[in-house]
Amino acid sequence: MAGTARILPAAAAALLLLLCIAGGARAANVTYDHRALVIDGVRRVLVSGSIHYPRSTPDMWPGLIQKAKDGGLDVIETYVFWDIHEPVRGQYDFEGRKDLAAFVKTVADAGLYVHLRIGPYVCAEWNYGGFPLWLHFIPGIKFRTDNEPFKAEMQRFTAKVVDTMKGAGLYASQGGPIILSQIENEYGNIDSAYGAPGKAYMRWAAGMAVSLDTGVPWVMCQQADAPDPLINTCNGFYCDQFTPNSAAKPKMWTENWSGWFLSFGGAVPYRPVEDLAFAVARFYQRGGTFQNYYMYHGGTNLDRSSGGPFIATSYDYDAPIDEYGLVRQPKWGHLRDVHKAIKLCEPALIATDPSYTSLGPNVEAAVYKVGSVCAAFLANIDGQSDKTVTFNGKMYRLPAWSVSILPDCKNVVLNTAQINSQTTGSEMRYLESSNVASDGSFVTPELAVSDWSYAIEPVGITKDNALTKAGLMEQINTTADASDFLWYSTSITVKGDEPYLNGSQSNLAVNSLGHVLQVYINGKIAGSAQGSASSSLISWQKPIELVPGKNKIDLLSATVGLSNYGAFFDLVGAGITGPVKLSGLNGALDLSSAEWTYQIGLRGEDLHLYDPSEASPEWVSANAYPINHPLIWYKVMILSRLTSREWGKVKHG
Ligand code: GAL
Repeated sequence: MAGTARILPAAAAALLLLLCIAGGARAANVTYDHRALVIDGVRRVLVSGSIHYPRSTPDMWPGLIQKAKDGGLDVIETYVFWDIHEPVRGQYDFEGRKDLAAFVKTVADAGLYVHLRIGPYVCAEWNYGGFPLWLHFIPGIKFRTDNEPFKAEMQRFTAKVVDTMKGAGLYASQGGPIILSQIENEYGNIDSAYGAPGKAYMRWAAGMAVSLDTGVPWVMCQQADAPDPLINTCNGFYCDQFTPNSAAKPKMWTENWSGWFLSFGGAVPYRPVEDLAFAVARFYQRGGTFQNYYMYHGGTNLDRSSGGPFIATSYDYDAPIDEYGLVRQPKWGHLRDVHKAIKLCEPALIATDPSYTSLGPNVEAAVYKVGSVCAAFLANIDGQSDKTVTFNGKMYRLPAWSVSILPDCKNVVLNTAQINSQTTGSEMRYLESSNVASDGSFVTPELAVSDWSYAIEPVGITKDNALTKAGLMEQINTTADASDFLWYSTSITVKGDEPYLNGSQSNLAVNSLGHVLQVYINGKIAGSAQGSASSSLISWQKPIELVPGKNKIDLLSATVGLSNYGAFFDLVGAGITGPVKLSGLNGALDLSSAEWTYQIGLRGEDLHLYDPSEASPEWVSANAYPINHPLIWYKVMILSRLTSREWGKVKHG
């Protein structure tokens, strides 16, 4: 018996070991000290990059993550997007592109760590900052402040995410890849607008997060007064001058903006890799040990997920991996080389603190040295002039705005301004419809476009459930963002001698909170206007023709992504809140408090014209396009005979 008793635990231990190896999972203890995150007792120098799971498709994830790994990343960061996971209160959705656990597991399969930024306010150029719209309609709710209904919902969702991750064994403490988590997002940038209740909320959020017992550290970004044990981190284009709020916390950079997001009407953002590499090297030079590219792969704002107003569908971000999942050169390659150089310094970086010396005006050396272990960074922070400096008795030439990395304190393995990696990128070509033969087969190459077809969208109210009410209604409160579109429709009867007429003409003025306005008089377009990313407000005015008898005024208001940033962004309204006025030489008619009929959404949305899997009889093959019709849906199909994985292979040879 005694023998059996001894053997059984040994067998059980062997089985456990086998299970651990099979799952690749071994519980890790993640803590931190003033230098770094500490994993299983060892300080780590980590390079992280943001890839947001719903901005690509699950079949893209393994390839993106592999490219991130090949680029020298240790950690993948993602936000969690509340609105897609809980579209209806209490009804959760973690399927397909929303399968957070599958994404985290894919990262683990590649052998990388995860930083899970739960928010659940995320900003992120995401519609309504990631909040589901139903949240706005909870009685008595006030977002992001010391408000019980808000805190209850935030806690419930945060706990749901943590429980889902725990359930799948995904925290490092359970053998999973998640080594870090974030609560809230850049609240410190705007919390003064919320006064004392804002501070109370921030402290509550920190305490609530810690109480969820994830076994890994929590961060708050851009929150100088983040309470212990949360680590306050930096976001920005440069963070080398940042210091955490306690000598016991490491210097961490949660958002190094690799480019920027694109707005409709705005320039395509571009951040030179030399500048990005300079910022990265400076950060590790000045004591940093964790930095994250925001974004490493930006991807696409699919469905109606773009924030606003006027944030574009592409979230390419000029990131090291482009929107389509192809490496962007020389950005990706040069950064990979920077990461290699920094990793060569890791033994010195984790061994001690840096000591700084000036090597002349705008030239700084940082040395990490313990015994025979030594790494140095030489920075020329002069943006104009190259410098030649002497360091440890040797001469070094430093191009303007660059950092040289010396993992042995003697030899330069990399200078951030000198690119040695591949400089050519991929080439984009137009698709021709002639790539499809008349029998539907592909001529060449792998992709082709179909012919165009169109469908007519009627002007004005067509639905039975339209609502009539006196006065103008704010749009978001009316639509609950179920659609981007809201029709405002009214009519006036004209005799011909009204004081707001000059002959048959009147001046119509429409004021709207935005984002886009179209004005129809008697079914015909009379004009349109739109706001911009910096101000969505619209003030439209034009002479219009009225006819004797009844005249129909149909105003179509459209939102282009709901606001996602700023104090009280959730209360920024949209739509035609007025005044709406007709005026002539002898007087004016204010239509603002007239009877208006409201229709949420377009007919084509009800018919799912946007869904390629649904063949609606509304579609007409476009041999000729309709003329004089203001609202038309157009459709073209991009046909592929390859799966996306094969496509990736073709692209890369
Ligand atoms: C930051 C924010 C991110 C993102 C970024 C700009 O302020 O934390 O979520 O919005 O700006 O892309």
